[in-house]
This record gives sequence, C-alpha cells and structure tokens, in this order.
Amino acid sequence: MRVGILTGGGDCPGLNAAIRAVVRKGINDYHMQFVGVKDGWRGMMEADSIPLTRNDMSGLLVRGGTILGSTPSQVFDKGELKVEKLVEGYRCMNLDALIVIGGDTTLGVAAKMFDAGLNIVGIPKTIDNDLVGTEVTVGFNTALTVAVEAIDRVHTTAESHHRVMIVEVMGRHAGWIAIMAGMAGGADLILIPEKPFDLDDVCSVISKRHQRKSFTIVVVAEGAHPRDGEASYTGEEDAFGNHTLGGVSNYLKREIKNKLGFDTRSIILGHTQRGGIPTVADRILATRYGVKAVDLTSQQEYGKMVAIQGGQLVTVSLDEAVKQRKVTDYWYDLAANFFG
Ligand code: F6P
Repeated sequence: MRVGILTGGGDCPGLNAAIRAVVRKGINDYHMQFVGVKDGWRGMMEADSIPLTRNDMSGLLVRGGTILGSTPSQVFDKGELKVEKLVEGYRCMNLDALIVIGGDTTLGVAAKMFDAGLNIVGIPKTIDNDLVGTEVTVGFNTALTVAVEAIDRVHTTAESHHRVMIVEVMGRHAGWIAIMAGMAGGADLILIPEKPFDLDDVCSVISKRHQRKSFTIVVVAEGAHPRDGEASYTGEEDAFGNHTLGGVSNYLKREIKNKLGFDTRSIILGHTQRGGIPTVADRILATRYGVKAVDLTSQQEYGKMVAIQGGQLVTVSLDEAVKQRKVTDYWYDLAANFFG
C-alpha cells in the first residue's frame, strides 16, 4: 500500500513525532510504502513529494515543526475548494491513502477530499485545541507549557516592580490556551474570545487587587475583545483570508495605564508557543494518534479522524471534527474563582 502523509496549517511541536509513528508502525506491521507530501496542499496540488523511509525517522520524536513543510497555499479559488486539482495530485502520486495531520481548516479540506472519493484519515493538531471531535490536539500541551513558563517568569518581575503585566497568548476564536495556562500560572484575570470584556470591569478587578497586592498578571487570548468592540487585527490576512490577530495586550496596557495610572507592560508570546521541542505529553499523544491512524488506514476505515474522548482513544468522522470547540462555562468559572 502506498500512503501519503501531509501536514497542513500552522505548525506545532509533535507533528514530526506523529509522522514517525505512522511510518514506523506502517512499515513494521503493514509493509506500507510512505511518501511525504511537501508543504501541505501546495505539494498535493503539484504532486510534490519525497519518499519516507524508516531511516528518515531518526531523531524526529523530539524535533519541533514539520519536516514536510506547511506553506499556506491558494487551495481555494474565490471561496471554492480546488477539489479537482487535489484529486489530480493524489492520483499523480499513485496514492492508495492519505493521512492528513491538521487543524480545522486542513481537516475541512481533507473531509471534502474524502467526499470526492479519496481514502483519507485525519490526525488532529493545533495549539489552539479547538476541534469539536477531540478533547486534545497535538501541540496544545507544548503551547501551554511555554505559556505557563512565561507566566511564571513574569510573576517575579511583576512583583519586583509593582507592575500590571499582560501576557498575550494565541487563540483566535477559542481561549483554551489562555484559560488553561492562566489557571496553571495563577493569573489574576483571564480574558478570552468567548467572554467579551468590559474595560471598567477589568480595571475594577485590578484596582481592587492593588489594595491588597502590588502587582497583577492578566492573561489575554489574542482573539479577546471588548463587549462593544472588535478583536485586534494586525491589518494582515493569511492565505485563507483570515485576518491575523495580535495586539490586544497593547490596547489593554494603554487603557489600564490611562485609567488607573499603574505601571503596566505587555508581552506577546506569539509563535514561541508553536516552536521548539514537543513536551512528553505531546510526544506520547502524537505517537498514539500516529499508530491509530495507520491502523485505520490498513483497515480501510476512511473518512475518520483519530481522537481522544472521555480520555479514551477513539475515532470520529472527519465532518464532526472540523467544527470549532469553544471554552465552556465550566472551565471559565473554574478559572474565575481565582481572579482578583
Ligand atoms: O491556529 C494556530 C495559530 O497559532 C493561532 O493560534 C494563531 O492565531 C494563528 O495560528 C497564527 O497563524 P500564523 O502562523 O499564520 O501567523
């Protein structure tokens, strides 16, 4: 069986660990042949691939990013997916199946390819952890670990200088990194896209806290926005036409300084959350997902994504996976117990 592997969308630590698991298991147990599709959907449309052997897998468990590359490509034409081009690339590479490692957009494309008759299996990845089909995606734990370490480090300097420190983490539509990292890092306030904020309330939490303590740590997701305002756009767009976000922490810094007069600083963690080596949890998750994905492929169980539900490794339909999972009230309320 000749199987392609493709990584799409934003990179994250653990992609290479998943590729390694797929290739090692597939060669050992199923005598499969593997090719890596280069640069995501670009490579698919142009049938640009490289062979992947067992030897190529050395050192991949700990290596961040993706050895296959992931270039944002024009896979849509005026909102229409170029399905024919994708099918042509698949046929040109003589694939019997394709394992797609991606987030909501990439897996959305994968679902359409399955609908077009191709043999597709999905593995969920995104530092945002915002896919409905699964409780956890590859890359999330590493991003959280980076964010929590940053929050821990910011604590000591905030305390020394009696400052308000605003740490901005990724999360366009869902605040999972902010809520989990904020909770684990002891944030005094967490702002997420699911709960539009009121600036006066934010200032009130901080000023009350400063009657008792001389510093405050605010964790904010990049997609968080005021009740009567929009998220902070950078003015740029990605290849899918999404506005790129960033800078809400700078806006908050300005407003808090103006309204309360406290010395305030903002820190945008940005792509540091997506870089570097994967954590132990991400290596293990990627390994479980990779092995399960190749099992599904050998059983010709296509149109499925591997997932964790109720802590168990399961499979869900690709269609189900592509919807977005938001932070629930349970998690927000849990974190809010420690605000102020
Ligand atoms: O979806 C993952 C993610 O890291 C988001 O959290 C973030 O908004 C976006 O990708 C950034 O994308 P880019 O790498 O294109 O700037």
